[in-house]
Amino acid sequence: MSATAQQDLPAPGHLHSAFETHLRELAVISAERLTPDVIHIVLAHPDGRTLTSFEPGSHLVVHAGDRRNAYSLVGDGINPRSYRISVLRQGTGGGSHWLHENLRTGSTVQIEGPRSMFSPDPSAKKLLLVAAGIGITPVLSHALAAARWDRPAEVIYIYRPGFAAHLDDLRELAYDGAIDLHEAHGRLAGIELMRRRFPLQPFGTHAYACGPLAMLDAYRTLGLEAGWPEERLHLERFEAPQREPGNEFTVKVSSTGELVTVPPGISLLERLLEAGHAIPNLCRQGVCGECRIPVRSGRVHHRDLVLNDEEKNAQTEMLCCVSRGEEIEVDL
Ligand SMILES: Cc1cc2nc3c(=O)[nH]c(=O)nc-3n(C[C@H](O)[C@H](O)[C@H](O)COP(=O)(O)OP(=O)(O)OC[C@H]3O[C@@H](n4cnc5c(N)ncnc54)[C@H](O)[C@@H]3O)c2cc1C
Ligand code: FES
Repeated sequence: MSATAQQDLPAPGHLHSAFETHLRELAVISAERLTPDVIHIVLAHPDGRTLTSFEPGSHLVVHAGDRRNAYSLVGDGINPRSYRISVLRQGTGGGSHWLHENLRTGSTVQIEGPRSMFSPDPSAKKLLLVAAGIGITPVLSHALAAARWDRPAEVIYIYRPGFAAHLDDLRELAYDGAIDLHEAHGRLAGIELMRRRFPLQPFGTHAYACGPLAMLDAYRTLGLEAGWPEERLHLERFEAPQREPGNEFTVKVSSTGELVTVPPGISLLERLLEAGHAIPNLCRQGVCGECRIPVRSGRVHHRDLVLNDEEKNAQTEMLCCVSRGEEIEVDL
């Protein structure tokens, strides 16, 4: 269905009248610089009406030139009049650069969502929230929601002085007594702080972290060392490590019988898109989960950071932007 046709559909009757998640245009209310390399963008419905509510830790898919990138929503998610995102500029030529260069008060932008991949566990007795760098965006959303619902939350924010987006927002929450805030300047201080805070959390606490890869590895290791069960150590990745190009492999498409050859350094996703299969995708790095496809047979070499061990062992699904394999038949 085309985006325009989708836009014309009324919201299903059982949903709130503001419910919309399809591709649509929002107005840029403001685009303000928070740090030398982060801008904060406030978006609203062109006619000012309330937007779709979202779970803390949700993201929007933002169309940025020829890219579609995910950006976490900064807000508690309840009946929002605006959507707020903060974008770190990463080099030139990509979607983040495009947003920095093109979004101004009064311009418009295409978005999809909100989508939720990092929601809080309702059974958590307390939240331990850990952010480093631009990973503050979903963490602030969790902190604001915890404050709104009066749930105990402690935040560890690891940053470089002068480059800490949303530090004032966190300090305000801490000043109001809504969260306990611990700040660390730099990676080593952050690791030390996590090492001290993990063992002090009451039973029933769930931890949520977002930040650079090395910090997330340290977070997980320190949590496990402190005796935390894996299922209470939640994390969201914005990026993935570089991967080896891998070997050539061949995939059979069950509905058509066609054989698709995937050379080293090229993904199955790219080959399926070239062959005319409409596979949803977003990050192309194995972190967002959009390109999950069913597998009928064969051996998948999973390389994503989304599926859990049980899902990987089942060998019934794969994330075709990064995973490879042998003699695979996909159920498309
Ligand atoms: C759930 C989630 C939430 C995020 N939240 C934030 C946030 O709040 N703030 C923030 O600054 N960043 C966030 N990010 C990261 C953000 O989505 C971008 O990856 C980041 O802005 C880097 O963009 P870029 O300009 O460097 O790269 P771009 O060139 O725009 O590429 C971004 C990603 O898209 C992939 N990609 C998509 N289409 C193609 C294509 N056709 N060809 C090649 N590559 C393609 C690339 O692998 C790359 O990883 C989030 C990511 C995820 C997954
Ligand atoms: S496109 Fe994001 S996991 Fe494949």
